[in-house]
Amino acid sequence: MSVLSFAKRFLAHPDQVGAIAATSRAVAEVVCAAAHVNESKAVVELGPGDGAITGTVLDHLNPEAKFFAIEISSEFCEAMAIRFPGVKVYNDSAEHIGKYLAENELDHCDAVVSGLPWASFPHELQVSLLDALYDAMAPGARFTTYTYLFSPYLKKGRRFRAMLEERFGEITATPLVWANVPPAFVYVAQK
Ligand SMILES: C[S@@+](CC[C@H](N)C(=O)[O-])C[C@H]1O[C@@H](n2cnc3c(N)ncnc32)[C@H](O)[C@@H]1O
Repeated sequence: MSVLSFAKRFLAHPDQVGAIAATSRAVAEVVCAAAHVNESKAVVELGPGDGAITGTVLDHLNPEAKFFAIEISSEFCEAMAIRFPGVKVYNDSAEHIGKYLAENELDHCDAVVSGLPWASFPHELQVSLLDALYDAMAPGARFTTYTYLFSPYLKKGRRFRAMLEERFGEITATPLVWANVPPAFVYVAQK
């Protein structure tokens, strides 16, 4: 998918897409390292979009590990099918992660890599998504989600971090990655 197509999808569904451009490789590397993708047996990506992070997940994924993604937009699912024909991408809301773990004969996963635009979501959706992904995670599993430079200064950004802390306890924030538009960092939560 071109830069222009990504931006067009953002303009059509700003609350779902939440970013004008896809994530950089530099952030994708930080996301995958923080999630310990290389050590995980089951990895789930939420909101892959057109696959900006997926390629890096695949580069680090253990060949024995199971991996699938859940993407709400059928257009992005089509883009994923072209770019990564071997990757299972379910066209659904990430709240249904439990259903897709079961379809893949998994009780839990060890890593959840999220590209979801949390700050754009209404509170009820944030709660149901976080509940579902928390239940989906094995004890010790890691959840990572990137956010932008300015989010600690915004009420919505602070509220989302507080929601993570309520569930997971201590949250780690990586250093800022300046090679991203806008600069971003990653929250890391361990169950
Ligand atoms: C900011 S884009 C991130 C795309 C890509 N991961 C990246 O980092 O460039 C957010 C993605 O989350 C998807 N999305 C939004 N709400 C979702 C939901 N409830 N379940 C699954 N995917 C969702 C959007 O369609 C979009 O692909």
